[in-house]
Amino acid sequence: MWIKRLAKSMLGPKYWDNLRLWFYRNNLNDGKMQDIARVILGPKCWIELRAWFYRNNLTTLAFLYGTDKAGGHSYTQHYERHFAYLRKRHFNLLEIGVGGGEYTGKGGNSLRMWKKYFPKANIFSIDCFDKSALQESRITIYQGSQNDTKFLNSIASKIGRVDVIIDDGSHINEHVLTSFSVLFPHLTDGGMYVIEDTHTAYDERFGGSEKSNATDTSMALVKSLLDALNWEEFVKTSPPEIGRDIVSVCCYHNLVFIRKGQNEEGGHNHRKHKIYSETEGVKKI
Ligand SMILES: C[S@@+](CC[C@H](N)C(=O)[O-])C[C@H]1O[C@@H](n2cnc3c(N)ncnc32)[C@H](O)[C@@H]1O
Repeated sequence: MWIKRLAKSMLGPKYWDNLRLWFYRNNLNDGKMQDIARVILGPKCWIELRAWFYRNNLTTLAFLYGTDKAGGHSYTQHYERHFAYLRKRHFNLLEIGVGGGEYTGKGGNSLRMWKKYFPKANIFSIDCFDKSALQESRITIYQGSQNDTKFLNSIASKIGRVDVIIDDGSHINEHVLTSFSVLFPHLTDGGMYVIEDTHTAYDERFGGSEKSNATDTSMALVKSLLDALNWEEFVKTSPPEIGRDIVSVCCYHNLVFIRKGQNEEGGHNHRKHKIYSETEGVKKI
């Protein structure tokens, strides 16, 4: 068990054996050992200590910090697949939606999870409520609406380089579309834009619709991006311009990953012999 490994490496073999003897003499099992450590360290330190041991495992981190990206949803498995290569890199991540409702000191669970999983990244977030109390080193939070174009532009220029954007905000379709149209142009080449909870695309309470030809929903946007991805194949009509900047659209249940990059492999009849690498973008061969 991890707490045993920690205690053993900290104490060294001699003191470790003495400690074990003392525990057995006093009839203390593993569970009691954990309880004692939890009381001594306090709840916050206890979580941080456990999180450090599981820092490579996004799903366990999600459970430890209490974000519904695992458990409530099954998103962390997909995040790990797409983001594992970023783990040790310096980059900027912006998440829309801090969590914790209107309460100033509540929320920030996913921000702390990202901070632990990406030890060199700067984590930025926006929320319509004041969440400044949750700021800490490498976590910066701004107050404002994801539906406010001016606010989003000002945040993007404050952050400078934005490599990953995650929309986990209101999930109102109009807001999702506004945020994407404003923030996607600010995303770096090779960056990733993620939209969570796309079930609201079908939910009228969020401005969604179950009609397959619905417009102005997050999934309508995603479907249009799939066409845009093949912009070089449009010969009779003008191609969707955004397609030049999108190299992949990856959809999972209620979760979409949109990779920004130079998309010019060449149309079907005009191959330019370029290849695309997930981590390095488009390369000539
Ligand atoms: C689902 S919670 C975020 C959860 C958090 N990302 C996590 O995984 O722990 C959604 C957040 O979006 C915020 N929100 C709602 N409407 C918003 C808006 N128009 N602009 C910015 N944030 C908004 C809410 O205050 C709430 O904190």
